[in-house]
Amino acid sequence: MVWSCNTGSSAKAPSPATSMPELLKVDTNSIPKDKYGEMVRYGRELMLNTAYYIGPDGVNGHYLGNKMNCTNCHQDGGTKAFSFNLMLSHQEYPQYRAREGKVLTLAERINNCVTRPHNGKPLPLDSKEMVAFLAYLRWINSFVPKDKPHQGSHNLAVKLPDTAADPEKGKMLYQEHCARCHGKDGEGQLAGVSYTYPPLWGPDGYQPGSSMHRVIKQAQWLKANMPYDKATWNKPFLTDEEALDIAAFVNNDSIHARPDVKNYDYPHVAEKAIDYDKGPFADTFSARQHKYGPFRPVISYWDQHGMKASY
Ligand code: HEC
Ligand code: HEC
Repeated sequence: MVWSCNTGSSAKAPSPATSMPELLKVDTNSIPKDKYGEMVRYGRELMLNTAYYIGPDGVNGHYLGNKMNCTNCHQDGGTKAFSFNLMLSHQEYPQYRAREGKVLTLAERINNCVTRPHNGKPLPLDSKEMVAFLAYLRWINSFVPKDKPHQGSHNLAVKLPDTAADPEKGKMLYQEHCARCHGKDGEGQLAGVSYTYPPLWGPDGYQPGSSMHRVIKQAQWLKANMPYDKATWNKPFLTDEEALDIAAFVNNDSIHARPDVKNYDYPHVAEKAIDYDKGPFADTFSARQHKYGPFRPVISYWDQHGMKASY
């Protein structure tokens, strides 16, 4: 089993039984009962009920362009293992981001999610809401074991097949395993201020510039987390190929419209993630191959040309 994943890190698979790395988790009962704790608590509220506070009809501001909550992707408020876990983030920023071609603070990185998956406008960096997000991320970071190996900070890896992901197969699998919650047309199920089941495409879904729109990236997340009531990180429901096929269907722009964005960034093409389908590219492969694969020839090409493929 590969437990670390997509960042090219050299982490090894854990050996079984006793030396199993600790699964990341937090204890929300231990939030301090002081001013700092108040901000942590508000930050957690914002992660869980983002649309209620800062959605299109938010009670504390109108920043998001849709009614999704951060926790729809960063589950359990960013603390669920293998679910775009955010427990390391506080210690890893400021960080160079290939997407913008510059070093970003954690606050700026949060705003990228406010703007792209939430199709919104950035929070002022000194707003109470931004400070609360940062306080919360600092607090969850305090649960990362400092002296023991841990797991779940990155999503599971998926094995990349020799063939391209197939949106047609993905469509059938979607109707079989996903439509009962997310709807036949990916519209989700709105319950007043936010969703019981969030939308997967359409005007209220994430933007095409979001990382969730990348086929490999989404498949890695689906593997441990969807279908919601069936998959767990140590007992995935979908095979790797099924996860890739479904992600290809969900992210097929020729049939699924999304809120439009004009700026796809990555000023340096050789730093572009290989499953990011917006050209120009640092190689000779088509936009279609960057979207659906097969990805292994792309990775080999990058290796041969001394470039580091990320996905
Ligand atoms: C549609 C899914 C989705 C939603 C909704 C979403 N995010 Fe993200 N977020 C992602 C993905 C995908 C990444 C990239 C993770 C990766 O590359 O492994 C990410 C990355 C991040 C990171 C950087 C993590 C790191 O350590 O580098 C932060 C911080 C973050 N999101 C915060 C938020 C906050 C706060 C919200 C709510 C305002 C939010 N996100 C909503 C999908 C989402
Ligand atoms: C039993 C209901 C259920 C089923 C079945 C299900 N999901 Fe979900 N899905 C959810 C819920 C609930 C969330 C939000 C998770 C949260 O807030 O903790 C979610 C979130 C998501 C998200 C991230 C948020 C967004 O809207 O972009 C994606 C992507 C997703 N599901 C895809 C799928 C796919 C693909 C399948 C089929 C393989 C699937 N889901 C099956 C309930 C379900």
